[in-house]
Amino acid sequence: MDDLPFSPAAERNRQPILAQLLSLLPAEGRALEVASGSGQHAVAFAAGLPGWTWQPTEFEAALCPVIDERARRMRLGNVLPARRLDVLEADWTTSPVPPDSTFDLIFCANLLHIAPWACCQGLMQGAARRLTPGGHLVTYGPYLEDDVPTSEGNRQFDAGLRASNSGWGIRRLEDVRRVAAQAGLGLARRQPMPANNLLLVWQLIGHVEPEPA
Ligand SMILES: C[S@@+](CC[C@H](N)C(=O)[O-])C[C@H]1O[C@@H](n2cnc3c(N)ncnc32)[C@H](O)[C@@H]1O
Repeated sequence: MDDLPFSPAAERNRQPILAQLLSLLPAEGRALEVASGSGQHAVAFAAGLPGWTWQPTEFEAALCPVIDERARRMRLGNVLPARRLDVLEADWTTSPVPPDSTFDLIFCANLLHIAPWACCQGLMQGAARRLTPGGHLVTYGPYLEDDVPTSEGNRQFDAGLRASNSGWGIRRLEDVRRVAAQAGLGLARRQPMPANNLLLVWQLIGHVEPEPA
């Protein structure tokens, strides 16, 4: 796979994320991944969750064939052809994700801090419309928390993001939580992850399962 676009970070975090998905999810279901990037997460999670059908999506149309090629080389039968999806599209219906399709899992890693803040609202509103009633939205990445000291690594990462694009930057969890609540989603689980990242589990308000003790 050396010839395909490759993210070292995705290679490092795919196993810890998969372990969390395995502890969270039932054996079977339908997943929609937002911002699949190189497709490394899509193929790792589809391989680790063989009872799931995985629908990768990407904003950069040129990456869709890369994701498809990765799935083809791994001979995965449960990865659907990647589709283009911009979370800012109204209702996500101009993308070829059928308007009436819903998902038991919507997964999105490392989008919120490397995209305009409006993408948070787009992700939350779109996910709220596309989740099955007991389904989970899982977001992964760095967040700023009011009551948790920010690591030096995340402080520098945030400064670098903001310097390269004034619309980017690590998001305050409280701001994300407010936008999620406006869309009808509540935070069900906050899971600390390696390298000062968080895996957050969101569910439709009214279906939020209490975090395990
Ligand atoms: C840092 S990469 C993360 C890729 C992958 N999820 C990972 O963790 O390795 C950010 C991704 O967000 C995508 N993106 C940017 N703007 C977007 C938008 N409006 N809608 C959906 N995805 C978007 C980019 O195309 C890119 O693939």
